[in-house]
Amino acid sequence: MSEAVTMDKLVSLCKRRGFIFQSSEIYGGLASCWDYGPVGVEFKRNVKNAWWRSMVETRDDVVGLDCSIMMHPTVWKASGHVESFSDPLVECKVCHMRWRADQLEKQACPSCGGELTAPRNFNLMFKTFMGAVEDDAAVVFLRPETAQGIFVNFENVVTTSRKRLPLGIAQIGKSFRNEITPGNFTFRTREFEQMEMEFFVKPGTDEEWFRYWADERYKWYTSLGMRPENLRMREHAKDELAHYAKACVDVEYLFPIGWSELEGIANRTDFDLRQHSKFSGKDLSYFDTQTNERFLPYVIEPSAGADRSALAFLADAYTEEEVEGAVRTVLKLHPALAPVKVAVLPLSKNERLSPMAREVNDKLRHSFATEYDDTQSIGRRYRRQDEIGTPFCVTIDFESLEDNQVTIRDRDSLAQIRLPVENLVDTLKTKLAGEAFGTDSLWAGARA
Ligand code: GAP
Repeated sequence: MSEAVTMDKLVSLCKRRGFIFQSSEIYGGLASCWDYGPVGVEFKRNVKNAWWRSMVETRDDVVGLDCSIMMHPTVWKASGHVESFSDPLVECKVCHMRWRADQLEKQACPSCGGELTAPRNFNLMFKTFMGAVEDDAAVVFLRPETAQGIFVNFENVVTTSRKRLPLGIAQIGKSFRNEITPGNFTFRTREFEQMEMEFFVKPGTDEEWFRYWADERYKWYTSLGMRPENLRMREHAKDELAHYAKACVDVEYLFPIGWSELEGIANRTDFDLRQHSKFSGKDLSYFDTQTNERFLPYVIEPSAGADRSALAFLADAYTEEEVEGAVRTVLKLHPALAPVKVAVLPLSKNERLSPMAREVNDKLRHSFATEYDDTQSIGRRYRRQDEIGTPFCVTIDFESLEDNQVTIRDRDSLAQIRLPVENLVDTLKTKLAGEAFGTDSLWAGARA
């Protein structure tokens, strides 16, 4: 993390440039709910696409899934969430603020110093009713993790994908938790997106696969330019483990709020398949036709937050640097994550420049996410593109009309080259793939 970055600066940049807005802002906002704006939606989608590409598209041993958010209520009894997915809640007897007892250092209210109630378990699942009758029989939960949709579909996927174990099933989607203390921008919210993969293996090979996935997941972040000095792996102590886990290691990131969990990689053993076999009465064991063995698979689960990863990539890319006596704010995002890859900027709004600039933009947008911008001074437009992390700006000036050449500006080094329009697409493709022409372009090293 750059020393300059604070959560306030990130919140302000996100609002200013259209990454993230407070939900329902015109009504005073809804606590801990956030909306991704035009730039943010592209950015977050790029994070999810990079995850999907690495976890599903580039592998033979992982397939995808997209399950419903509401599931049969027994799923959550079998998974242990009805019984154990709770945090210890205390309430201040004076100001009635509620706190998580396990996060308090003292036995008094952090807000007013008042006396606290004894802790009681508060279940974090959101409840709602399905259908027209609001009675106990109609209660359903919004899923608190995407994982359970994968477990209950294990048999469907194995039979229809005609794959053998080891086999992973991946899913990206919304999860909901009625967190007692959400906060720190998008770090902890009540509605968020997860990127989860359940990797089903033969018991006995689970520890090896656990290490494998811990390494892979660390590498995913660094391959997208995250600085290794801001990442660390933290093994859970036995008393920290979730009710289903035999081992767990967190990928932690040095957020502006300090080292915090970015992703957990857990060895869930056969807990979930065993529970769902028991509660559904369906045998979810796997028969290996090559060894003639039947067993209940163990599961290794890398579970990441899409919003939390996006926040970490933003924090990591946020840079303030002095250029010609002024401070420049720039997001040094990996090109794969940048919401806009190439900005097309006519030097001014002059009508002689527009046709050529539009033509260049039309040519480029078939290959890249582009943004055409002809408002304000060129300096202000560069500043906007720097702040949303656009790797390259292409400018069209009056000389371009004569020689059919344009200028490309590199976001990180600020180096500029001039080249014929017909070479533009190929040159940008090469540069976006890693061959930046500055010396300090972040992704050049990350890709090596
Ligand atoms: N299936 C396992 C599971 O859900 P978890 O550690 O509770 O494990 C996995 O969650 C990841 O989901 C976390 O590492 C984090 O990135 C993200 N996450 C969890 N709760 C979150 C919240 N309230 N707000 C934002 N992201 C959250």
